[in-house]
Amino acid sequence: MPDTIDFLKVRRSVKPREMSGPGPTAAELDTILTIGARVPDHGKLAPWRFIVFEGDARAHAGEAIARVFAEKHPAAPAADIAAEKLRLMEAPLVIAVVSSIRSHPKVPAWEQELSAGASCLNIVTAATALGYGANWLTGWMTYDRDVLDALGLQPHEKLAGFIHIGTATKPSEDRPRPALAEIVTRF
Ligand SMILES: Cc1cc2nc3c(=O)[nH]c(=O)nc-3n(C[C@H](O)[C@H](O)[C@H](O)COP(=O)(O)O)c2cc1C
Repeated sequence: MPDTIDFLKVRRSVKPREMSGPGPTAAELDTILTIGARVPDHGKLAPWRFIVFEGDARAHAGEAIARVFAEKHPAAPAADIAAEKLRLMEAPLVIAVVSSIRSHPKVPAWEQELSAGASCLNIVTAATALGYGANWLTGWMTYDRDVLDALGLQPHEKLAGFIHIGTATKPSEDRPRPALAEIVTRF
């Protein structure tokens, strides 16, 4: 499919600060999530799930993030705490990809976690193909158990990342890509 190859050859992320509304429609969001769930998955374990943040939910999540930040940094200036509140506010839609693995005799945790990464990229790719900007981000809050608890993750679950999705306000600049000669060998 030449169109798909052409698209994949130039796909690149858009910074959330270079996004605004509108975000995907409800039908487009369904498409994005469906494609996020259509990824290689050894053992058909579906070792991922998605949390959608839109509208006020983004601010509520930001308040939880800022609360944990303030507890852990009691000397933090108010401006830093205010900035944490805005973590999910730049793009109109943020999808958290949760890695939800289980013990399996044939499918190691690593493979299940890789499948969550595949979900993240499929979400980025699907949103981009629909004409939106997308960006896969993590940050300290991705690895903070108190934040994860506040966002509703179970103790065994981890976050693969937050995918920010919106309308690009300017063309995204590409970045250098590795030369194949540096990353490819023949055995
Ligand atoms: C797991 C993961 C976490 C990332 N976290 C961040 C982050 O917290 N902040 C950031 O600026 N970029 C982060 N990035 C990089 C962005 O996604 C970046 O925009 C992307 O690598 C651009 O590549 P592309 O143009 O090929 O889409 C992360 C990437 C991955 C794979």
